[in-house]
Amino acid sequence: MDIQELIQSRYSVRDFRPDPIPEAVLQEILEAGRLAPSAQNRQPWRYIVFDKPEEIRILTKKTGLIGLSNFFIKDAPVVIIACADLKKNTRINGKDYYLVDTAISFQQMILTAWQHGIGSCWMAAFSEALLAKYLGLPKSWKIVAISPFGYPKEDKTMYSKFLSAMSKSKDRQPLEQIVQFWKTP
Ligand SMILES: Cc1cc2nc3c(=O)[nH]c(=O)nc-3n(C[C@H](O)[C@H](O)[C@H](O)COP(=O)(O)O)c2cc1C
Repeated sequence: MDIQELIQSRYSVRDFRPDPIPEAVLQEILEAGRLAPSAQNRQPWRYIVFDKPEEIRILTKKTGLIGLSNFFIKDAPVVIIACADLKKNTRINGKDYYLVDTAISFQQMILTAWQHGIGSCWMAAFSEALLAKYLGLPKSWKIVAISPFGYPKEDKTMYSKFLSAMSKSKDRQPLEQIVQFWKTP
């Protein structure tokens, strides 16, 4: 797939087959995150990879993820927790850039995964306090996002269909609404 096809076909996958992700592919995904640009090249991102079903099961159980709307991550063969080390943050014009940097890096991983037919779903709904405690994260680390990674299941659960419908996941604003071509008045 070229980049346009990748961008156009990607969607949030919430139903996973249990098939493992080959080691070389997982490395390629992680490498795509490593190569991302960042403000002043500070590379604040830090990744915690869960690649064992039993570890993922314990994670979801102990950190309340199951109790939230994100229980579907328990079926994925890999879960990646995207963190940022604030010691590597860049502040420009009063704005912290660790979120931007880590988001770019994580999205590069997501698109690389999709090129291999591996789906994912950005997740912001989690308890950072519970997760940080469970993972024993250093005080300077923030958790930016979580995503399951795995091959999409053909059959979607009622729940994931409901979530896609509720978030109107296919809807995007038209270009005219989000873009203005500047003309000096
Ligand atoms: C920053 C961010 C946080 C999100 N958090 C969640 C989440 O916690 N749970 C979930 O099921 N989907 C989550 N999503 C997925 C969005 O609902 C989804 O991207 C949006 O509806 C568009 O659908 P699509 O990804 O299928 O194109 C999140 C997406 C982003 C970018």
